[in-house]
Amino acid sequence: MSKLLATKPISTIMVEAAGEGEHTLKRALGPVNLTTLGIGAIIGAGIFVLTGTAAAQFAGPAIVISFIIAGIGCVFAGLCYAEFASMIPIAGSAYTYGYATMGEIIAWIIGWALVLEYAFGAATVAVGWSGFVTNLLEFFGIKLPFDPTPHIAFSLFGHPVSAQVDIFALAAIIVITAILVVGVKESANFTSAAVMIKVSVVLIFIGLAAWFAFGHWHVMKANWHPFIPENTGHFGHFGWSGIMRGAGVVFFSYIGFDAVSTAAQEAKNPQKDMPVGILGSLIICTVLYIIVAGLLTGVKPYTTLNVPAPVADGAAAIGVNWGVVMIDFGAIAGLASVMLVMLLGQSRVLYTMSHDGLIWQWAGKLHPKFCTPYITSIVVGCFAALLAAFLPIGLLGELVSLGTLLAFTIVCLGVWIMRVKQPDVPRPFRTPWVPLVPICGMIVSVSLMVSLDMPAWIGFGGWLIIGLIIYFSYSRRHSKVQRAIRAGEQSSAISK
Ligand code: ALA
Repeated sequence: MSKLLATKPISTIMVEAAGEGEHTLKRALGPVNLTTLGIGAIIGAGIFVLTGTAAAQFAGPAIVISFIIAGIGCVFAGLCYAEFASMIPIAGSAYTYGYATMGEIIAWIIGWALVLEYAFGAATVAVGWSGFVTNLLEFFGIKLPFDPTPHIAFSLFGHPVSAQVDIFALAAIIVITAILVVGVKESANFTSAAVMIKVSVVLIFIGLAAWFAFGHWHVMKANWHPFIPENTGHFGHFGWSGIMRGAGVVFFSYIGFDAVSTAAQEAKNPQKDMPVGILGSLIICTVLYIIVAGLLTGVKPYTTLNVPAPVADGAAAIGVNWGVVMIDFGAIAGLASVMLVMLLGQSRVLYTMSHDGLIWQWAGKLHPKFCTPYITSIVVGCFAALLAAFLPIGLLGELVSLGTLLAFTIVCLGVWIMRVKQPDVPRPFRTPWVPLVPICGMIVSVSLMVSLDMPAWIGFGGWLIIGLIIYFSYSRRHSKVQRAIRAGEQSSAISK
């Protein structure tokens, strides 16, 4: 048991993080790139779709409060991520923090949960992306010569299986994987362009809705009334329980700020810039989300917002048809950057796990010219493309939230443990009010996990079991930390 909980010394991690040369990632990102990367991962399907659906089904105009609650929960976790990312600036993110504080088996579980967040996250967003592309094509009256979501039938272990394949989602992930292979700077440039488009579109919506509010204040007031619709008698359907349920749903909109920490080894000055990237992107998006949610529920009655593109419908309600097209474009650009940052994060976590010997060596191999972990990027891209093509978006989304919340919980706990066990390690950024902030982060994360549905928990349990089978059959034997322990035991046996 003690071997399962063996930790990786921070001194070793720091030596690895300081490494330069052809076998290390390129340090190309500054504070603006990192904040952009964060916004690139955060603003996506959540704000463009879930704001409306969660308001219509669970919280009404009080979805604004749901956004505030989920945002505060994420800020607690964000503060803990910022401390770790500045103290241990390595590409493994929560996985590495777990390895340094709680031991190998916990680190493995987090690394495995991060696959749910990033690879499954990219797949979820790819399905949403495909929906927006189809809408836009329909808007322009473009008829495709093929069916973008054909049904296919095949046999799996002798059982007939039929599935609907999402060709656009599949194609999106393939293109983004190609950009990731070519380089981190190219990926950051792509993200910057996408972020500029999507943030402009969000600001345009805010401008249009604010202008509408000036002329139609009575309409806004009527739509905001009642601000907290009465509970229907069912838990989670309006009233305060609905606000909490809404917070659980819109939590998805905030996922992604932690992906900034996976770029730590590609940051020029990680100690200073990681906290800026993580907290800066989170705060900017929280403010934008709260304003959009407030204005959207004012422009249109919340009961009408359970539609695939509620923000675009909001622009239509204002009477600005070009706004609808712009918002569709913004969503397409926005979701593309979310996929990119998620897949980037995934390949970096696996790269680090491979260097630790916990997964196969090929996952840590860098491209000789582009200096990117190209094999991992391609394998992860194929895996995410298959998930996007075959799995339903609802289940994918909840699995993503479960994996992310588990990582948040462990990161919050890790900050607290580290402060007690190693108080003197230099911390360029310190989470304020420890242990209060980490405890609040854990409480919010666990409560949100509990609010998720049973099928997602079953999928999550199955995923963890597969992970543990890999750990005990491969990782444990190849782990560098375990090998060092075995070598130490042998030499002490010889010297006795
Ligand atoms: N936060 C990301 C989104 O909303 C995952 O799409």
